Amino acid sequence: MAEKRSLWGSKIGFLLAAIGSAVGLGNIWRFSYMAYENGGGAFLIPYLVALLCAGVPLMILEYSLGHREKASPPLAFARINPLWEPLGWWMPVVAFFGINLFYAAVIGWCINYFGLSLTLGWGTDTQSFFFGEFLQLSDSPFTLGGIRWPVLAATAGAWAICWTICYREVSRGIEKASMIFMPLLVILTLILVGWSLRLDGAREAIREFYLKADLSKIALNTAEGRKVWVAAFGQIFFTLSLGFGIMITYASYLPKKTDITGNALTTCILNCLYSIIAGFAVFGTIGFMANAKGVPFDEAITSGPGLAFVVYPEAINQLPILNQLFGALFFLVLIVAGISSMISLTEAFSCSICDKFVISRQKATTIICSLGLIGSIPFTTRAGLLILDIADHFINNYALIIGGILECILIGWLLKSQVMRRHVNNSGGIRLWPVWDICIRVITPAVLLIMLVGALLEDFTRAYGAYPIKALLLFGGGILFVTRLLSFILSHVPWRPEKLKTKHHPEDENLLT
Ligand code: PHE
Repeated sequence: MAEKRSLWGSKIGFLLAAIGSAVGLGNIWRFSYMAYENGGGAFLIPYLVALLCAGVPLMILEYSLGHREKASPPLAFARINPLWEPLGWWMPVVAFFGINLFYAAVIGWCINYFGLSLTLGWGTDTQSFFFGEFLQLSDSPFTLGGIRWPVLAATAGAWAICWTICYREVSRGIEKASMIFMPLLVILTLILVGWSLRLDGAREAIREFYLKADLSKIALNTAEGRKVWVAAFGQIFFTLSLGFGIMITYASYLPKKTDITGNALTTCILNCLYSIIAGFAVFGTIGFMANAKGVPFDEAITSGPGLAFVVYPEAINQLPILNQLFGALFFLVLIVAGISSMISLTEAFSCSICDKFVISRQKATTIICSLGLIGSIPFTTRAGLLILDIADHFINNYALIIGGILECILIGWLLKSQVMRRHVNNSGGIRLWPVWDICIRVITPAVLLIMLVGALLEDFTRAYGAYPIKALLLFGGGILFVTRLLSFILSHVPWRPEKLKTKHHPEDENLLT
C-alpha cells in the first residue's frame, strides 16, 4: 500500500518555512561583516551575480528534485542513479552532524545572552566576559575542560523547542511554527533597524562603510578582487541553505501543481533582502558604538561570534535609554532566526531516515533530537567555540561546495537538465528558461570547482586559524570522514521495494532516449 506523504497546508506555509531555513544567524552577522570586509556597497555586485548564476539556479534545482521525486535527498538520488545514494545521504548527514550540533549550541549562547540582557549581566568588559566568564574558553581544542552548564541547559532548551515542533510533523508543526516565527522575525527586525537608524552616528557609519562602494575591491584582475567574488559565492550558498538537501526535503511536501520557479525566486529574493536590511541595523549599531566610544569603525567591527556576543553587548551598554529592551530584542531576533534554521536541519535528516526505515515520524524525531542533544555536548564544553570554528570552516568550504557540484552533475548530466526543466514547466507557474540548463551544467559547477580548489590551496599552504594540524585533522577532516562513512553505511541498508520503484514519468520518455 502506498503510504501517504505529508503535505504543506498552504503555499505561504511552505514559503515561510523555506525562508525560515534560509534566514538564520548567517544573515545577521556573516553578511554584514563580509560586506564591510569586501568593499561595502561594492560587495553587492558579486553578491547579486552569485545569487543569479548560482543561488537561483540551484534553488530551482533543489526544489524541482524534491518536487519531482517526492522524496528525501537519499531516495531522490537513488532513484536517479542507485550508485549516487551515499552522496544523497551525505547531505542530510552533514547538515545534522556537521552543522546542527553546533548550531544548537550557538542558539544556546543566544538564549543565555537573552537572559543576561535583562540585567546587562555581561558587565562593562564584554570581551573578557564572553570568552572568560561565560565560555571559560580553554586554550586548545583538545582541552575540553568540562561542560559549561548554563550553555548545556540552554542548548537542551533549543533541542526541546526543535523536538516539539518537528514532532508535530510538517503542516501541524513546521508550517505552524513558521507562520508564527517569520512574521515575528520581520516585525522584531524592523523595530531593531528603525531603532538602530535613530542612534547617534548610525547614519554616517552606514553611509561611509555600508553604502559607499569601493569598486577597486572587486576588480577581477587582482587576486584580492577575485577572493571577494569567491567569498560572495560562499555566502550565497550558506545563506540560502543550499547543498544540504534541506530545500529538496521541504519541496518534497509540495502539491503536484506548484510554481517552482516563482517559489525559488521568492525565497532567494526575500532572504537576500533580509540580509541587506539587517545590515542597516548592524552597521548602524556599531557606528553608534564607535561614535560613543570615540574609536574608529574598523576597530569596532568584528566577525562571527565576536560581533553578536562582544560588540553588540558593548553597544547595548552605551545606549542612553532602554538598554535591556534593545538587548532582549536583538537576542530574540537571533533565537527566532536560529531555531527556524535548526528545524530545517533536523527535518532533512529525519525525513531521510523515515523514507528508508519503517519508523514513525514521532519516534524518529525523538531519537534524532536526543542524539542531537548528546552530540551537542562537546560544543558546550570549554573548548566548544574552538571545535565549532574548525568544524564550521571545513563544512562550509568542502561539504557544502562538494554537495553543490554533485547535485549539478547528477541533474545536469545524468538526469539531464532538460528533463528537469520540462518537469518544472509542466508543474505550472513561471516558465523556466533554457539558460538554466547552461547554469546547472556548466557555470554553477565551474564556479564551485574554482572555490573548492581555492579552499584546498589555502588550507594546504596555511593551517586554518593557526590551530594545531592534529586538531584540524580530527575536528575538520574527522567530521568529513565520519559523515561520509555513516552515509556509506546508511546507503547499504536495502530500500523497501515500493519506495525505490522509480516513479513513472511518461513525459520524460522522448527526452531520455
Ligand atoms: N542559511 C542559514 C543562515 O544563513 C544557515 C544554514 C545553512 C541553515 C544550512 C541551514 C542549513 O544562517
